[in-house]
Amino acid sequence: MSGCVVNRSCRTTTLHSFRLAGHKNSHQHLDMKHPPLSDIQRKWDARYQQPDTALPVAAEVLLQNRHLLPKTGSALDLACGRGGNALLLAEQGLTVKAQDISPVVIAQLQQTAQKLNLNIAAETCDVLATPPSAEQYDVLVVSYYLERSLATKLINALKPGGLLFYQTWCQQKTPGRGPQNPDYLLADNELLTLFAGLKVRVYREEAQLGDMTAGCRDVAMLVAQRLD
Ligand SMILES: C[S@@+](CC[C@H](N)C(=O)[O-])C[C@H]1O[C@@H](n2cnc3c(N)ncnc32)[C@H](O)[C@@H]1O
Repeated sequence: MSGCVVNRSCRTTTLHSFRLAGHKNSHQHLDMKHPPLSDIQRKWDARYQQPDTALPVAAEVLLQNRHLLPKTGSALDLACGRGGNALLLAEQGLTVKAQDISPVVIAQLQQTAQKLNLNIAAETCDVLATPPSAEQYDVLVVSYYLERSLATKLINALKPGGLLFYQTWCQQKTPGRGPQNPDYLLADNELLTLFAGLKVRVYREEAQLGDMTAGCRDVAMLVAQRLD
């Protein structure tokens, strides 16, 4: 069975395409069917081609607040990487989609999900070119991916009552940890501004107060709900 083209930017990856991705000429194969890989895609593909046998783990915002998840419904792990969030959401019983720009990691996630007997629709997708459409999801999870221009689209992608779980790096973090590029670092309380259209249910951001070796450092976490 070959990969099914969903649209120009998002395509479902099957086990067949995973085998091709593992083949040394895999990119040549993908390039024949799809536009040339963007620089971002190349960067992440190269990173994900490094072997990593550890089982992907969900972000703390999801692990610590798992009890807030509904028992059924639709969920999206946006810019999912190895898919720790998607695996937890599928374990929870939700109908899960996972999207990432890297076909390499999407194929790996498909294989992990199959091994664990979890059902995840994993898609190669440039979420900037094809953001999630309106009122699609009961749960939306974004970890360690900061694209401010998507904030309104993410709010709109929630169904009324839906929950956004967001976690990423802050400017006020331990020096030397995480990305250095300020574009990828949240300003103080910035998640609250970006998602002001949602009702805050959980927010955690500790900045550089007190004992920096304790607590939940370097990141901000938000769980927020769409009410309208
Ligand atoms: C730092 S990783 C985080 C991955 C995962 N969410 C996690 O918490 O481990 C950032 C992810 O964003 C993905 N990404 C970057 N630009 C993207 C885009 N335009 N569309 C979809 N995914 C993108 C990368 O491929 C990478 O997997």
